[in-house]
Amino acid sequence: MNKARIAIAAIFSLATTGLFLLPTSQADTTKSSSKQVTFNKDVAPIFFKNCAECHRAGEAAPFSALSYKDVRPWAKSIREKVVSREMPPWHADPHVQKFKNDRRMTQGEIDTITAWVDGGAKEGDPKDLPTAPKFVDGWRIGKPDMVLSMPEEFTLEASGPDEYQYFEIPTNFTEDKYVQMAEARPGNRLIVHHIIAFVQPPPKGGKPAPKLTKEEMEKFREKMEKESIFYRDGFLMRMKPDTPVYDDGCSLPSGGGSQRRDGGGDGDDSGAGQLLAGFAPGMDASIWEPGTVKKIPAGSKLIFQMHYSKQAGSVQKDRSMVGLIFAKGPSEKQVITRPISNNFFKVPPGADNHRVTACWTTKEDIHLINSMPHMHLRGKAMEIKAYYPDGRSEVLLNVPNYSFSWQTVYYYTKPIAIPKGTKFVVTAHFDNSTKNKYNPDPTQAVRFGEPTYDDMMIGWIDYTVDGKSPKNATASNSGGSSEK
Ligand code: HEC
Repeated sequence: MNKARIAIAAIFSLATTGLFLLPTSQADTTKSSSKQVTFNKDVAPIFFKNCAECHRAGEAAPFSALSYKDVRPWAKSIREKVVSREMPPWHADPHVQKFKNDRRMTQGEIDTITAWVDGGAKEGDPKDLPTAPKFVDGWRIGKPDMVLSMPEEFTLEASGPDEYQYFEIPTNFTEDKYVQMAEARPGNRLIVHHIIAFVQPPPKGGKPAPKLTKEEMEKFREKMEKESIFYRDGFLMRMKPDTPVYDDGCSLPSGGGSQRRDGGGDGDDSGAGQLLAGFAPGMDASIWEPGTVKKIPAGSKLIFQMHYSKQAGSVQKDRSMVGLIFAKGPSEKQVITRPISNNFFKVPPGADNHRVTACWTTKEDIHLINSMPHMHLRGKAMEIKAYYPDGRSEVLLNVPNYSFSWQTVYYYTKPIAIPKGTKFVVTAHFDNSTKNKYNPDPTQAVRFGEPTYDDMMIGWIDYTVDGKSPKNATASNSGGSSEK
């Protein structure tokens, strides 16, 4: 391995633990070249490509990277964040796999930004400024064919703990639909921490599910909870204290998961409880390759799981939504989303490197599209590894310094072929000690649960099943464009 790569890896891992490492030698060499580095000529193209996606009006990041005027006051902070590689956010080990949405900048790009700041953050000649990238109405996927919103505004009280709320959104689809892109957007960014939009297909038999009244839904929930390993604490699902503990989920027949949890479905092609799109810091819109689609069966509902936080300090309203772009070409492969999770772990108080595993073995030949670690504030690291039936093994994702602040989905440059019989082993490490500065309470044992003061252990994967088409024919999704 060459030295530069080791240096980058070192900076990378220090950056994510919050230490700043300034490569002074490099800053010196660029300075001595004494060429005037300007925003318009040198820096704008980097910002447009690497920052504007999040740093623009209406997005979560604190300033727009699209104009000199907006960027200039942040110059010092920008230098610090790019040198430490805290920005752009990216937490996967760069030596494991290649990712399409890799946000890391080259050392050259970082050096250019550093030299620009050190040289006084000059604007330069307006003629040098490239055209800014265009973003449609704030949608990252472009103008959606269809937008499905929460039926009505939800009112969130000013104070109290975070809330998880579930909303049902009817699709009124009378035929199966094939989605190419999906994006969840918050109605009110002050309070929406995350959105997870699931597809809930109608019960087998084809008829659309009847709409439940609030009371009926409550009854159904109560029944579910009695049979479940979870209980409801206010708005939040938590683990019942008497649930047995298994840190090594791989030792369980289920691999660590409980039934009917987190909408992973059973991985068949019925689209059962399938994740459609999510919104969270650092999460991209769901964009699938042409020919690869997410199926929404006729009569489905969407379920929004909303995590609201009450930082605004006043009563707030929200009506969040999902935008869909339907497949225009043939729908050859259906994307399946699966959580590989351990619901039974327990992290003891003070433990600084507690290991938890979860497993899943594929019964079919599949192609892996992306993967994503999900833990909460004690989450420290996660690795997803494949053990192939021929005895080989391969790390599919390694996130050595996990951060709950960033929910990044890691898209492989090319889908990875995974043969039937391959075992996925997800290994998480948790830090429940005082060393973890995000730890809300190192004196508490931690179990699975929705509140951020509980934790989670999920390796999410998206894949397609080889040789299986969502429709038997390769007919196009003709109804799509007429849905507007
Ligand atoms: C995936 C989205 C995303 C990308 C890409 C991204 N940022 Fe950020 N950035 C954020 C968010 C969200 C915040 C605010 C939260 C935080 O500070 O952690 C932020 C914060 C910052 C801050 C700190 C501001 C402060 O409060 O001090 C700086 C500086 C910054 N970004 C610079 C950049 C630069 C420069 C780039 C491109 C080279 C970039 N970011 C790319 C999302 C992004």
